[in-house]
Amino acid sequence: MTQIPVIDPTVTPAWEALDDRADSFSPDLRSWFDADPNRAASWTRSAADLHVDLSKNLIDQGILKDLLALADQCGVFDLRDRMYSGEHINTTEDRAVLHTALRRPSTDTLIVDGQDAIADVHDVLAKVYDFAERVRSGQWVGITGKPVTTVVNIGIGGSDLGPVMAYEALKPFVAEGLECRFISNIDPTDAGETTKDLDPETTLVIVASKTFTTLETITNAKVVREWFLSALRERGIAQDEATTREAIAKHFVAVSTALDKVAEFGIDPNNAFGFWSWVGGRYSVDSAVGTSLAIAIGPESFAEFLEGFHAMDRHFAEAAPQDNVPLLMGLLNVWYSNFLGADTHAVLPYSQYLHRFPAYLQQLTMESNGKSVRRDGCHTTYDTGEVFWGEPGTNGQHAFYQLIHQGTRLIPADFIAFANPTWPLRDTQAGSDMHELFLSNFFAQTKALAFGKTADEVREEGNPEDLVSARVFTGNRPTTSIMAASLTPKILGELIALYEHITFVEGAIWGLDSFDQWGVELGKVLAKQILPAIEGDGEALAAQDSSTRGLIEFYRTNRH
Ligand code: F6P
Repeated sequence: MTQIPVIDPTVTPAWEALDDRADSFSPDLRSWFDADPNRAASWTRSAADLHVDLSKNLIDQGILKDLLALADQCGVFDLRDRMYSGEHINTTEDRAVLHTALRRPSTDTLIVDGQDAIADVHDVLAKVYDFAERVRSGQWVGITGKPVTTVVNIGIGGSDLGPVMAYEALKPFVAEGLECRFISNIDPTDAGETTKDLDPETTLVIVASKTFTTLETITNAKVVREWFLSALRERGIAQDEATTREAIAKHFVAVSTALDKVAEFGIDPNNAFGFWSWVGGRYSVDSAVGTSLAIAIGPESFAEFLEGFHAMDRHFAEAAPQDNVPLLMGLLNVWYSNFLGADTHAVLPYSQYLHRFPAYLQQLTMESNGKSVRRDGCHTTYDTGEVFWGEPGTNGQHAFYQLIHQGTRLIPADFIAFANPTWPLRDTQAGSDMHELFLSNFFAQTKALAFGKTADEVREEGNPEDLVSARVFTGNRPTTSIMAASLTPKILGELIALYEHITFVEGAIWGLDSFDQWGVELGKVLAKQILPAIEGDGEALAAQDSSTRGLIEFYRTNRH
């Protein structure tokens, strides 16, 4: 098994130096900007096509020096290189971690466990692209000869959040006449609402599951198969075994690493797209898990999406530490979490198309770094894994920004915006460009958070003295502004890869295996044990703790 050196970050000289700095730290962004007219320029970086302004963070050159030393002393660069080369850095599962291989050009070679991973990736990609093309062109038809108009992706976690987020983000690139829907929750509402107005003759179902054992996905897939067959049968279609098999073959495909289980489920393995154990679920949107997206936006745009990831991978691998944006953003998160007491991190996209991006990032960051045991089995003595959360601007401004501006907690926030709108709408009466109105909020918020408003400024506005303190904004609330020209498939790939690598950097500093997820197991096992109690097995009910038993009894009494 691969041995990864584990370093307790708290005993490094850099951690001690940062601790000392934090003790006497009194940030003052106003005076820092006044004293250094070049602050914005000297803290702005490019990463592929992203323009990243770090200047409104609570950081100075001394802190940067210590944070970079921390990365070095904790072996971040060594671990990054091991990851890229296919070493088994997911030590608790003894697996390589190679999402970066999913987006490398076909001319590359990378032998992992005796197999050329890049060649395998491009074989599957070619199959996905061919399938996507046939669906898009209408060459792939359903049991009654009709082309597909709706693709239903059934999956959960990484087999859902990435595809749905990217589909929503890239709506303007979706072929006309095609729609994707997503079923993830085992709450029957999800399958019920999603299928209720669907035409089975024009529906293609993609069952996406890395393991093909996930209860939610397999249950939803069975339920949807039943809906599909009974809807066809009501129309006099698929009445015998042969046509039933043909209908399933034409309307159900799968994405999985477990092709044997796909066959057991009844999906023709010829209609299955594989991937590999070295792709973590939350790192899989750019594998065959993105098949629904590839159909929706087409192979050309999907290839651009992959190019975006690859451009960011190269930046992370090649940019000098002081210019390396994922490294710097990951280190800033460590600074805020471990030295300045931040518990959460907001991600605030000023793009309605990115409305599922924070939810996607929650799995990426929190399933990766929500851990309190290091690779060496020791408990961490420091905090890990901030709570990531967010909503698109400007909606959040009228909901939770109050707390970010004037609350007692430090909440570092990433603001994301694009120079060009997809919808060039105008308020003709006011003569204003809507996108400019929108972006004025993006610029205003980070300014207000950084520089605030002093008591004297509040007084100068003529406010009565007893209201002054309530109207003061302390400022010094850190933000990173990320901008790009437009939200394209390539830019989306860059953004996703940026956060993948930020997550990697934090996990590497904290000594975690960011690629396993043992914390989700216990609940799954208990749910299986509890089901008989819900169904009426007295012995199973008696075996529960008093709280769980009481809740089940309430359920059984009130279920009609
Ligand atoms: O239970 C957590 C998890 O394993 C995630 O890591 C994963 O993305 C999700 O479940 C779905 O898993 P699968 O793709 O195997 O169905």
